[in-house]
Amino acid sequence: RSTRFYDFKIQTKTVNKLCNSNQIVTVNNMFPGPVVYAQQGDRLIVKVANESPHNATIHWHGVRQILSCWFDGPSYITQCPIQPGQTFTYEFTLVNQKGTFFWHAHVSWLRATVYGALVVYPKPAVPYPFKYPYEEHIVILGEYWLQDTVQLERQVLASGGGPPPSNAYTINGHPGPNYNCSANDVYKIDVVPGKTYLLRLINAGLNMENFFAIANHKLTIVEADAEYTKPFTTDRVMLGPGQTMNVLVTADQPIGKYSMAMGPYMSAQNVPFQNISAIAYFQYVGAMPNSLSLPARLPSFNDNLAVKTVMDGLRGLDTSAVPKEIDTNLFLTIGLNVNKCRSKNPQQNCQGQNNGTMAASMNNVSFIKPTVSVLEAYYKGIEGFFTDNFPGAPLRFYDFVSGAPNNAPIDTNSMNGTRVKVLEYGTRVHLVLQDTGTVTTENHPIHLHGYSFYVVGYGTGNYNPQTANLNLVDPPHMNTIGVPVGGWAAIRFVADNPGVWFMHCHFDVHQSWGLATVFIVKNGKGHLETLPHPPADMPRC
Ligand code: C2O
Repeated sequence: RSTRFYDFKIQTKTVNKLCNSNQIVTVNNMFPGPVVYAQQGDRLIVKVANESPHNATIHWHGVRQILSCWFDGPSYITQCPIQPGQTFTYEFTLVNQKGTFFWHAHVSWLRATVYGALVVYPKPAVPYPFKYPYEEHIVILGEYWLQDTVQLERQVLASGGGPPPSNAYTINGHPGPNYNCSANDVYKIDVVPGKTYLLRLINAGLNMENFFAIANHKLTIVEADAEYTKPFTTDRVMLGPGQTMNVLVTADQPIGKYSMAMGPYMSAQNVPFQNISAIAYFQYVGAMPNSLSLPARLPSFNDNLAVKTVMDGLRGLDTSAVPKEIDTNLFLTIGLNVNKCRSKNPQQNCQGQNNGTMAASMNNVSFIKPTVSVLEAYYKGIEGFFTDNFPGAPLRFYDFVSGAPNNAPIDTNSMNGTRVKVLEYGTRVHLVLQDTGTVTTENHPIHLHGYSFYVVGYGTGNYNPQTANLNLVDPPHMNTIGVPVGGWAAIRFVADNPGVWFMHCHFDVHQSWGLATVFIVKNGKGHLETLPHPPADMPRC
């Protein structure tokens, strides 16, 4: 095992995009930020110096942080933000994990530009379950704003309404020729005819799920969320923010220039969104450089069937550890709400629709981040920052079992709280995420920190344990699941990683509105099941 050192300087940079010059926050003046390469079992040491005017943290999305919860990164959950001028060193081991991950800022909406890939290779002696291709490329899908996104979050929360759509979708930071002034702001992969390529797809977008396709070429999915899958060949894929996917593509078409396209997936068009696609090129060596590219065919923005086809195709490769027995059943509703206010005071009850302020909740609780980290409060036994009474079932009565699909909930209010769910070490959890489908109708990409979970079922309408037909044979092992609009997903994991773990919608706007909760997983009995002390340079709030 070796140790790898990286230096991250969070800095403001001036970029010219979309006919504008504006300032964005980056790492090391790169956008997207530097790629972190490592090997399974390595220790990573990343010194982060915050030279930007905003508070910052870095989260290592998908890394389980076994016994290293202090370095997970979500602000006010496992750490206080790194304030301007401060530094903090992240230090953790990539225990038994390999594949495509990414890192991103985890405070306010800073991650709009503060993100990059984290690629973990298997140990040299460990073979891939597929023929390793000729070459690999990282393809990061993103959303770009012409506005400072930290200010944008403040404005959106103050307005009480929803966010404006991004100004562009991007592929590795480039919008491509569909956008103004962007004909040359295009990402391109040069390919050799006949060769096969591994694309490491990452959706780092803020608030949109996205389709991705390459004109005339098939994609074979071999990995999702840094876990191998059975190979599945398709014309297009869909990734929610927080999801990663490895696909193989063979350059088996006539020599030419082909579009790689990223476009929106939005179940219903009732919130504004960017309906232009970002374009990159998949260009054969020998193609005329100025030739027109063949257009990629993306599904229409509301093509739920295309999404279901991809989800159905995701089957785990190594599923020997799927929990068959369950200790705890949890049922969580997830959805948006219209509240009277969105006060930062968890004591203040903001129910009622008077002002029509947007909120979001799990089990009708809108999560409010505390003013010190939940982890610190828990670890040091400081009271008053959270309560351990997060409800394991909805607070209000929804008849999800016998109700007709998409029954509207009785009301759409939520109450504020910093309420967490405590799990004993080793608890085998079956968790149903039920989308209420109220207010707006879009998927919620729910992400759990500290774990990967088996997606044992999903469907439309209301979860019904009698008819759910769970897959305990080859479910995919994911860390982010797009819960179908007006539908449900059932996931399973064993709570064997002590710490404080955020679970939230990976749409930043929904997270800001409170679509989140926290699991506290207690220590086990042995030394190797006990969370160590915090590091000395832990930022203070
Ligand atoms: Cu990718 Cu809580 O984050």
